[in-house]
Amino acid sequence: MLYEMARACLFKMNPETAHSLIMGNIDWAVALGVTKLVTGPEVNDPVEVMGLKFPNAVGLGAGMDKQAAHVTSIGALGFGHIEVGTLTPAAQPGNPKPRLWRVIPAEGIVNYMGFNNVGIDQGVENLKQSGVKYRQKGGIVGINIGKQNSTALEDALADYQVCMQKAYADADYLAIDISCPNTPNLTKLQDDDKLSALVKGIAEERKALSDKYGRYVPITVKIGPDLTDDSVRSSADVFVKYGMDAVTATNTTRSREGIEQYPQSKNPGGLSGLPLFEKSTHVLRVLSEHLKGELPIIASGGVMSPELAVEKMKAGASLVQIYSGFIYSGPALISEAAQAIKAWRQTR
Ligand SMILES: Cc1cc2nc3c(=O)[nH]c(=O)nc-3n(C[C@H](O)[C@H](O)[C@H](O)COP(=O)(O)O)c2cc1C
Repeated sequence: MLYEMARACLFKMNPETAHSLIMGNIDWAVALGVTKLVTGPEVNDPVEVMGLKFPNAVGLGAGMDKQAAHVTSIGALGFGHIEVGTLTPAAQPGNPKPRLWRVIPAEGIVNYMGFNNVGIDQGVENLKQSGVKYRQKGGIVGINIGKQNSTALEDALADYQVCMQKAYADADYLAIDISCPNTPNLTKLQDDDKLSALVKGIAEERKALSDKYGRYVPITVKIGPDLTDDSVRSSADVFVKYGMDAVTATNTTRSREGIEQYPQSKNPGGLSGLPLFEKSTHVLRVLSEHLKGELPIIASGGVMSPELAVEKMKAGASLVQIYSGFIYSGPALISEAAQAIKAWRQTR
């Protein structure tokens, strides 16, 4: 009820202004306990994935705390993990505004942000400050990395390797984003001919870094929902071949199916939220049937309710991430989804 009132005000604002308002005030709101009015209890339901112990199965998807500046505050809302970023080698402004639109009747979001971020150096510095308390209580932090908008596709590997070098020591896991539709040509990295070379280079870099630091940092690769089933399967084979530790399914979609009737559908960018649920869950199922447990799957896409979170688990997910659901359903969804997954796991 309280969140519905807050949402009514927030939804009157431009979406990016509302996002900045929330991020700009979350630290004091958590410190003073104000957010307790709209969150449920933290759920203790430990789950081991990628060799890491997550306090519960529900995390925050990449893109909300792009700058890694509010990890402990956001974590206090009940997330078992937080994926910060996407961070690129250097700071970049992203695409010109406006670049974020709500499709309210469909519970969707269209975003054309384009990896606006402070760059990997500043992002990691931010995390060193903002993530300490969250990690002390067992919260897991993933650092999502991507290529610079201006980097040619042939040079993308070097961007990922630079980011890995800078993020490695401070990440619980790394997420390789090759599926954001808003960075020129990025999704082409998922093509068979490019994917093997990229993932091989990432695996080699990880080997060098784990030797250097004496610590193995698991890696998940985040794929998009617009791949054919065959491409999903062949990508999974590449991830297994080169020793990746998980796959995240999925990023936003270029499709406008389900929102064609709304004017916001005409905007460029990736669609998330409820209209993405079926498409991303289909990819999850294809992966799950193909991988047969060889790699865990982190599910992202359209988790707007506790029931849909459980659907993702039933379809083969080991962890579930929320982004758009946080905006539409409010922070209570985190605890409710984690609780529903806990209850479902106990019946198995
Ligand atoms: C405004 C916005 C920004 C996003 N930025 C990123 C990003 O920087 N990197 C990334 O991997 N995913 C990004 N995403 C994708 C989300 O992490 C998530 O995969 C996607 O929205 C599907 O989940 P959802 O339906 O729960 O929102 C972004 C999504 C939105 C809505």
